[in-house]
Parts: sequence; C-alpha cells; structure tokens
Amino acid sequence: MVTSAPANQRARQAIRDTWGGEVEVTGLRVMTLFIVGVPSDPALGKLLIVEARERGDLIQGRFLDTYSNLTLKSLSMLGWVRRFCPQAHFMAKVDDDVLFNPSALLHFLNKSRNPYEHGDLYLGRVHIRVAPNRDPDSKHYLPAGAYSPSVFPDYCSGTAYVLSRSALLKISLAATASALSTPLPPEDVFVGICARAAGVLPSHCPLFSGGPAVPYGRCCYQAMVSVHKVAPRDMLRYWADLQASPACSWLSIRASLGLCKVR
Ligand SMILES: *[C@@H]1O[C@H](CO)[C@@H](O)[C@H](O)[C@H]1NC(C)=O
Ligand SMILES: *[C@@H]1O[C@H](CO)[C@@H](O)[C@H](O)[C@H]1NC(C)=O
Repeated sequence: MVTSAPANQRARQAIRDTWGGEVEVTGLRVMTLFIVGVPSDPALGKLLIVEARERGDLIQGRFLDTYSNLTLKSLSMLGWVRRFCPQAHFMAKVDDDVLFNPSALLHFLNKSRNPYEHGDLYLGRVHIRVAPNRDPDSKHYLPAGAYSPSVFPDYCSGTAYVLSRSALLKISLAATASALSTPLPPEDVFVGICARAAGVLPSHCPLFSGGPAVPYGRCCYQAMVSVHKVAPRDMLRYWADLQASPACSWLSIRASLGLCKVR
C-alpha cells in the first residue's frame, strides 16, 4: 500500500514502472496499490478519476488530502486492507518516495522464520523513546492536551513498515477504538500507539532505511528492503541498474551495507 499525494502522479508512475510492477516474487504473489485522499483542487480530482480508470490501482479515502491528515490516510488504509485483502499474509505501507524491494523483504522474512507460521509482525526501522514535539511553531507540534505522556511508544518509521495479517487486524481494531484527538499524532506514531494498545511490539530491521536518504550503491540497494527519498527519475535509473546487474555476493553485500551506513 503506497500512501501517495494526489499531485504525485509521476512518483506513482515511477513505482508502477519499477518495484510496483512486480506481480510475483519467488513464486509468491505481490500487489501494489496507491491510497490518496481528496485533493482540494477539483481539477486534480478529475485527473485522479482518469488515472484510476486507466490503472485500476488507486484507492481514495474520504478525507481532505493534507499533511496533517496523513494519519487519516493510514486509518483508511488499515480499514481497507482489513476488509478487502483477507488473503494477504503481509501488508507493507510504503511512502511514494521510497524505493521498495519486495524480493529483499521476502528474503528477509523467509530467513528469519517460516513466513506463514508466525503471528504478529510489525517490522521496520524502529524509533525508540521519541518525545512529542511541544514547540507550537513546529508542523509536528503535539500539545500535552492531545497526547500527555512524555515519550511515544516505540514505533516503526512511517517511510516503510510491514504488518502481518494478525498484527494488522489488531492494530486496525485498536485504531478504530481509539479516541481521535486533534491534532492527531504523526501517522507512524499513531500506528505505534495503536500497536502498543493492541499488545503488538515493533521489530527492528536494519534493511529499512527509515528517514535519511542512502547514496546509491548497487549491492547495498540489492539488499535493502526500503530506501527513502528517491526521486521518480532516480527510481527508474536505479531499478534498471539493479535489474541489469548480476546478484551481489554475500561478501560484497556485507561490505556495501557497511559503506552505505557510514555514508
Ligand atoms: C482532514 O480531513 C477532514 C475530512 O475531509 C477535513 O474536514 C479537515 O479539514 C482535514 N484537516 C486538515 C487539517 O486538512
Ligand atoms: C525460502 O527458503 C527456502 C530454503 O531455505 C527456499 O527453498 C524457498 O524458495 C525460499 N522462499 C522464498 C519465498 O524466498
């Protein structure tokens, strides 16, 4: 599920032309859908209808698509997947400026345990003991009236995270039951709060980049599950290079992951 802004048509197309175009990875079916809200500009709304007809991969939630409403986007996403994807073992929430790598994810899941046997999985780059922003001038301002504890529960960075079906059901139910304060906490924090309420713990995976950009390196990108801040043009370029090159050896992947981390 790619959370996308209505105006980011180029980002969506780059995703369809790269990782989102994958329909089968090592024999398992994958599907990429985009979720948007309602744009304030009606002309943009018409373009979305055309895009949805042509592509059949857009979901639109009933809320105004603004930065402060991103949490509502995740809420609709959870509800939609809960309702319409009962056959999906996992859902990945991915931002539209992320180069995601379904095959690296499946490789990781397969290596860590039998993907069909485990229960709750909430996987990504885990942020630990983050304090709410109490600066009224910040766009992330969260007054104590809206959220009183001095730290958030640990949560996965919203750039990309993965939920197993059972974790998704629990978190989605907790989200529906939670009282929505205004302003809402950031999207990823909100999911973390609902996960805590549902008794689901986040698991950290260093192959998710989280917030910072990662300089391009072929072997590093082959192994990473998600890389943030990739412009549409770069996504096409990197993906073409990744597809054209042979698989990196275990040793060169170790070496380049180390290098990417340092950079
Ligand atoms: C969020 O969406 C709701 C429902 O469309 C809308 O009433 C509200 O103004 C939006 N909030 C912001 C801050 O954009
Ligand atoms: C999982 O690993 C096994 C061997 O350990 C392999 O046979 C199988 O193809 C892998 N499945 C995926 C989806 O990577």
